[in-house]
Amino acid sequence: MNQQIDHLLNEDRRFAPSSQFSQDAVAGPELYDEAQADRLEFWAKQSRDLLHWHTPFTNVLDWTSPPFAKWFDDGELNVAYNCLDRHVEAGLGDRVALHFEGEPGDTRTITYAELTDEVKRLANVLEGFGVGRGDRVAIYLPMIPEAIASLLAVARLGAVHSVVFGGFSADSLRSRIDDAGAKVVITADGGYRKGKASALKVNVDQALADRGDGEQLTVEKVLVVRRTEQEVDWDGERDVWWHDVVPQASGEHEAQAFPSENPLFILYTSGTTGKPKGILHTSGGYLTQAAYTHRNVFDLHPETDVYWCTADIGWVTGHTYATYGPLANGATQVLYEGTPEFPEPGRWWDIIEKYGVTIFYTAPTAVRSFMKQGRDIPLQRDLSSLRLLGSVGEPINPEAWMWFREVIGSGITPIVDTWWQTETGAIMISALPGVTETKPGSAQVPLPGISIDVVDEKGEPVGNDAGGMLVVTEPWPSMLRGIWGDPDRFVETYWKMFADKGFYFAGDGARRDEDGDIWLLGRVDDVMNVSGHRLSTAEIESALVAHEATAEAAVVGANDETTGQAVVAFVILKESFLKTHTAEGLAEALRQWVGTQIGPIARPRDVYIVGELPKTRSGKIMRRLLRDVAEGREVGDTQTLADTAVMSVITKQVR
Ligand code: WTA
Repeated sequence: MNQQIDHLLNEDRRFAPSSQFSQDAVAGPELYDEAQADRLEFWAKQSRDLLHWHTPFTNVLDWTSPPFAKWFDDGELNVAYNCLDRHVEAGLGDRVALHFEGEPGDTRTITYAELTDEVKRLANVLEGFGVGRGDRVAIYLPMIPEAIASLLAVARLGAVHSVVFGGFSADSLRSRIDDAGAKVVITADGGYRKGKASALKVNVDQALADRGDGEQLTVEKVLVVRRTEQEVDWDGERDVWWHDVVPQASGEHEAQAFPSENPLFILYTSGTTGKPKGILHTSGGYLTQAAYTHRNVFDLHPETDVYWCTADIGWVTGHTYATYGPLANGATQVLYEGTPEFPEPGRWWDIIEKYGVTIFYTAPTAVRSFMKQGRDIPLQRDLSSLRLLGSVGEPINPEAWMWFREVIGSGITPIVDTWWQTETGAIMISALPGVTETKPGSAQVPLPGISIDVVDEKGEPVGNDAGGMLVVTEPWPSMLRGIWGDPDRFVETYWKMFADKGFYFAGDGARRDEDGDIWLLGRVDDVMNVSGHRLSTAEIESALVAHEATAEAAVVGANDETTGQAVVAFVILKESFLKTHTAEGLAEALRQWVGTQIGPIARPRDVYIVGELPKTRSGKIMRRLLRDVAEGREVGDTQTLADTAVMSVITKQVR
């Protein structure tokens, strides 16, 4: 199979950091040299500088039985102590850890001293429930401070958390609780979303109900936060209100040291097939890379910055960049419960203005939905506090990147486009904002200490100006340590493809440009083959979004008698264009546009104007479902969609 991916799009805009930014930047170019000189010593130094080790490590990496890595193996630490107590002991107890903003408008300001106190009490409560080292605790909560406290309290005990996104159903919750064998569930009566109180506890009740299948439930206690005050069913043996026990518990709790490789969390991520994979992360290596990347990529100055990562705690970004990274670094951050459009579309910009947010980390899907609504909404707010923007989750098209910089970043803020995965635990590819001359649409360079390549099917580097598969060629501290309960699947999924080279295969297609910079091209499974040319979804989507009428686009390859596959595009138009143009006229204009932008080979056979695109709850487009529509099949499994009704709407619009 030819894995070369053709390259079609050219981008020659460049943005160097201002000299002032570079001068003040946390990370300078010497980081690359240090990592180059001695990679393992580099990581050891980062770990010693950024973390407190109760027992210092002497081994850096044990890679004697790949792909099972051990980092800082003989060291001992407590993850929660690193995120809390040590800041208080250093006299920073009064620093704000969380500016919490609930969707209804309620707010709480929580200092490091207060958060430490809460976590100690909660740790005592959990210990009272019998939770100890290695036990699993499921967390099913909205984005409220108790969610962050829960992760930390579990970590403090050397136990393992498994966060299940609050938007998931009772069935998904049950299968995750069962797979992990959770002993305790922490939940809330409900949370606020789009102006309504959504229910959570009722899903936990359903997930834990006896289904008469003889399966033994592992859950002994359910701890419930009161958030919405809706009515809930109550099991007097099993259920405990948070407010009845946590404030009353002792505020004394000494953090014990645990081995570096003690498991920290399991996080389920959907595979292409079959049941979700429980990605396992451990303590010392994970926290090292979380802190290192958070500090250097986001140029964190903890004394003055106000940082905001919009990801939900249910995703890995919420773990690494709304919990462990920022707290390990003593950052002040914003935590927001709800959706960007409640009570009206400018809510996020109001929050930035209100708290003076300086560093803002979000997803391309959000940026494109703001583009669709138009720039007037953000321009009515004062966003001048922002000095750095970040993007994660999908390729960010150059036009969305430019809009982000111009409209949200006042035309001056650097943007870091960060590539990583649940499996990698922390950022792997990104610009360093005070060093790198950025290119719209490119994640660019592996971070110092990280070894990445783009290779062909034999594992040979494709070199510059060519496309192939993205691999990680050396173990890294925050790498996944396995799939919970399924070591074979771990090896099979990530390490088999390039077993003889020992490379980790990420599943993404990528390209190196003439400078060697890396451009992500989407999942390898989504690559199209048109008349023998392998085309990436990302490039054609970027071309479509570069048209002034387009807000968002998804491209798939559909079977075609003459060309093998044909390009089929689904496009959402900007609201302002819908009023003045017909869909048919614009569809044809967009076909021609792609033809002139990147060449006739990429010109879509069909362009469908739609109102929505099918997305997972973390905002990734599900192209598999669009392929079903494009090929006239019945649409497959829609369970993981954020909005399951969206496919029937799209199917109607297309037919
Ligand atoms: C995609 C999210 C392009 C990629 C942290 C990866 C990206 C998958 C980027 C992991 C980026 C993430 N540019 N693509 N900056 N960041 N991806 O596990 O396909 O939810 O494999 O982790 O998202 O998604 P996950």
